[in-house]
Amino acid sequence: MSSKHIADIRTDYRLAKLDENETGSDPLMFFARWFAEAEQADVREVNAMTLATVDNNFQPHARIVLLKALDKRGFVFFSNYDSDKGHQLDVKNAAALVFFWPELERQVRIEGLVEKISEAESDEYFLSRPEGSRIGAWASPQSRPISNRAEIEKNYSKYTKQFGKNIPRPAFWGGFRVLPNRIEFWQGRSSRLHDRICFTLYNDSWSRVRLAP
Ligand SMILES: Cc1cc2nc3c(=O)[nH]c(=O)nc-3n(C[C@H](O)[C@H](O)[C@H](O)COP(=O)(O)O)c2cc1C
Repeated sequence: MSSKHIADIRTDYRLAKLDENETGSDPLMFFARWFAEAEQADVREVNAMTLATVDNNFQPHARIVLLKALDKRGFVFFSNYDSDKGHQLDVKNAAALVFFWPELERQVRIEGLVEKISEAESDEYFLSRPEGSRIGAWASPQSRPISNRAEIEKNYSKYTKQFGKNIPRPAFWGGFRVLPNRIEFWQGRSSRLHDRICFTLYNDSWSRVRLAP
C-alpha cells in the first residue's frame, strides 16, 4: 500500500475564528455553548469523546466513550468499573478527554481528576437505558477475553430470562465524572495558524491564555 495519498490529505480550515472575548471566563459555560452549536450543526455522534487513561506502567490507553451529563462539576460518562479503563482509573484517577467536531473545525481537550458518581446518579441513568443495553451491561465482562461471540449471546439470554422486565444496575457498572482542571478550545484556521484558548484552574478560579498553534 502506498501512503503517498495519505500524505496528500489535508484541509485548510476557514469556517470560523475564536477570540478571547468570545470565550468569557467560565470554560464549562463556553463548552456548553460549543456543544449546543455542534448539535445544531448536526455533528454525528456529537457526544463521542476520546478518553485517555494510564496504567501502572505509565502506558496511556485511549478509547471513545459517550458524554452523558455535564454540569458545573464536570463531564460524566458510564462504563464497566471492572473494565481495563476502570482498573486504570483505580490506579491513577486522572484522565484526558478529546472532542473533535470536524463539521465545525473544532477540538476541545479536557484534563482532570476522575471520581465515581454517586450510586443514586448511576441508578437513575441505568434505569433510563433501553432494556437491551441494561441486559448488555450484565452480559459483557468488558475488556476480558471471551472464547467466542456465542458466549456473550448465551449470557444475554440467561440474564434476559433471569430478570424479566426488572433489570437492576450491576454493582460493577456506573458513572465516572472528570473534574476538569484544564480545558482547551481549538478552532481551525487557515495556514495552520489555528486559534487555541486554554483555561487552567488555580485555587478554584480559571485563568485563560492563548497558546501557539
Ligand atoms: C461511538 C462509541 C461510543 C462508545 N461509548 C462507550 C461508553 O459510553 N462507555 C463504554 O464503556 N464504552 C464505550 N465504547 C466502547 C469503548 O470504546 C471501549 O471499547 C470499551 O469501553 C472498552 O474499553 P477498555 O477495555 O479500555 O476499558 C464506545 C465506543 C464507540 C466507538
